[in-house]
This record gives sequence, structure tokens and C-alpha cells, in this order.
Amino acid sequence: MSKRAQRKLEHIQHTLALGQQRLNGFDDITLIHQSLPNLSVAKIDLSTKVGELILSSPLLINAMTGGGGIDTMKINEALARAAHETNIAIAVGSQMSAIKDKSEQPSYKIMRKVNKDGIIFGNLGSEATPEQAKIAIEMIEANALQIHLNVVQELVMPEGDRDFTNVLKRIEKIVQHVDVPVIVKEVGFGMNREVAAKLSEIGVAAIDVGGFGGTNFSKIENLRRQRILHNFDHWGISTAVSIAEVISIKGNISVIGSGGIQNALDLAKSIALGASAAGVAGFLLKLYIEKGYDALVHEIINILEDLTYIMTALGAKTVDELQRVPLIIFGNTHHWLNERGID
Ligand code: FNR
Repeated sequence: MSKRAQRKLEHIQHTLALGQQRLNGFDDITLIHQSLPNLSVAKIDLSTKVGELILSSPLLINAMTGGGGIDTMKINEALARAAHETNIAIAVGSQMSAIKDKSEQPSYKIMRKVNKDGIIFGNLGSEATPEQAKIAIEMIEANALQIHLNVVQELVMPEGDRDFTNVLKRIEKIVQHVDVPVIVKEVGFGMNREVAAKLSEIGVAAIDVGGFGGTNFSKIENLRRQRILHNFDHWGISTAVSIAEVISIKGNISVIGSGGIQNALDLAKSIALGASAAGVAGFLLKLYIEKGYDALVHEIINILEDLTYIMTALGAKTVDELQRVPLIIFGNTHHWLNERGID
């Protein structure tokens, strides 16, 4: 097995072993209950927009895996089938390995095969060239392309990158050369408003905040290291704060909340903070591997049903209305936003 394939399997194993932290900041957010919502569950409309893409609901399965053989192929097939069955969007894991080695392409292509008309996002790192971006999009007929930023993960990864120069320029080139929307995402360390403003300026369609508080790639990579690097284990901007930071730039850019999202309330709070959709990765992967395909599909259906109940209790008929419900921010999240002058 190649080193890259081995690494992917280790990421999955360590994700399962470490589980999800509950540090995403959503416990600091309270949505204000409405006793007179004047709304019925049947009237709730979950459809939403990310850039120009219309999604039937704001839940998406975020980028995880691909390449590396039979195990990842099976996982990707199951995740894509579940996305198809529940009509939600899904992202593939980084496609760079399949660009470098064509024999790895089937584990990505399977996702389009079992989810012909669904919304599927491609995924590459910020080292990608515009040509590679085009190949990744073509490979799975992607509806959008995610570019991930993962500086801390690379630094903790023994074999990771050490040079992070000219990243914004490369993303700008990709934005100019591809004909699908580009989504820039973090992988669990969050995003601040200064970065968001730079991405908005170069024409990125959406930011997936990839906030701190769920899957922790510093801890995951540490499990693969000889000399442990603990400095980054508690490093990052929580998901709740990241959403508020990115929304505060008021740019023409959609926001996807992600990082430790595990249930409909986390999803509702992401949207109430201003996101248009929310991505779930580690929680659904763990559920599928430990409990199987049917449990995965039921969980997605339950999250969507629960979301309609929450929206009803808040009097929010649409995602747009949910984005504007009143909320109270407590604790560290309140403190952070106050210090940064974000209201
Ligand atoms: C990831 N993630 C990820 N992200 C990305 O952009 N490209 C990738 O290839 C991967 N690979 C990957 C593998 C595994 C096993 C996991 C668990 C995650 C990161 C993922 O998309 C997400 O940003 C983070 O995991 C944070 O979200 P959760 O897991 O807390 O919901």
C-alpha cells in the first residue's frame, strides 16, 4: 500500500478512536423560543443556496476520503448512496492522489456513479494548479470545488508541507479558470474575518469555516508521530466564532458552518449565526463505520426532521428566516466577539 493510502486509513482509524470533541462553541448560543410561531411543520422549506447552487436542504456530508483501495471505495460508495437517498449534498475527499495516480480514480468516481443527479463537491489542497482543478472537477462532474486550507494539520503531519507561500494567488487562479463555484474550507481550525475578506476579494463563492471543536487533526496527526507536538491540540477558532467572524465581513460570499456538528440544533445554530448550510464529517463517518448504512441514512433523515421542528418552534419558515432569528450569545463566544468588535 502506498504511503498516502496508509495515511488515509490511519486518519479514519484515529478519527474513530478520538471521536468528536464538544468544543464547537454552540453551547454558548441560545435561540429564543417563540410561543406563537404561527407556523406548521408542513410549511417548513429547507431549501437553501450556497453561491448560485440550490440545495434541497442545508445539511451536507463534508470531505473525507478517496483513494487508498477497497476500504475507502466502500466508504465513499456508502456516503454517496446515503446522500442520494436523502437528497443532500456531499463532498469527496482530496482528489490529489487520484490526479497523481489514475488507478485511484474509481474510489472517487463511484460517488458520481451512485449519485448521478446529486450535488457533489470536488476537493483539492491549495497546492493545486488550475489544470489539476479542472481534472478534479471532470473526474466526478463536480458541481463545485472545495479547496482546503490545513496549515496546522500539515505542520503536525510528520511528512507534511512546510511552505505556505502564495496560496491566495493559486486559489485566485483556480477561481479564474474553473467554471464551477469555488468553496474554500478549513479542516477543523476555523477561519477569521481577515482571511474571509481576502477570499471574498478574489471571488471565492463560499467559505466553509471548518471550525475548531469537532474532529481534531492536531490530535489525529499526533497519533502518527514519534515526537508529539501538543502545541496545536487546543488551537483554533471555534465553529460558532468562525461563522460570526466570516459573516461579519458582509461580503458577497456564502458561509457553510462546519466543525463538530452532530445534530439538528448545531445545524440550526449555524444558520441562525448566518450560515447558509452546514457540513458534517467525522460524526457521520463514525456512525456509518460503527453502526452501518441504515443507521447513517436514518440519522440524516432524523437530523432533517428535527430541523423542521426547531424551525417551527422558532417561527422560521425558511432558511432565510432562520438566518434572522434572534439569539443570545454567552460565555467565551460572547467574549471573543466583543473583543473583536463583532455584533
Ligand atoms: C477529513 N477532512 C478533509 N477535508 C478536506 O478538505 N479534504 C480531505 O481530504 C479531508 N479528509 C478527511 C478525512 C477524515 C477521516 C476526516 C474525519 C476529515 C476534514 C473534514 O472535511 C472537516 O473539515 C473536519 O473533519 C471538521 O468537521 P467535523 O469532522 O468536525 O464534522
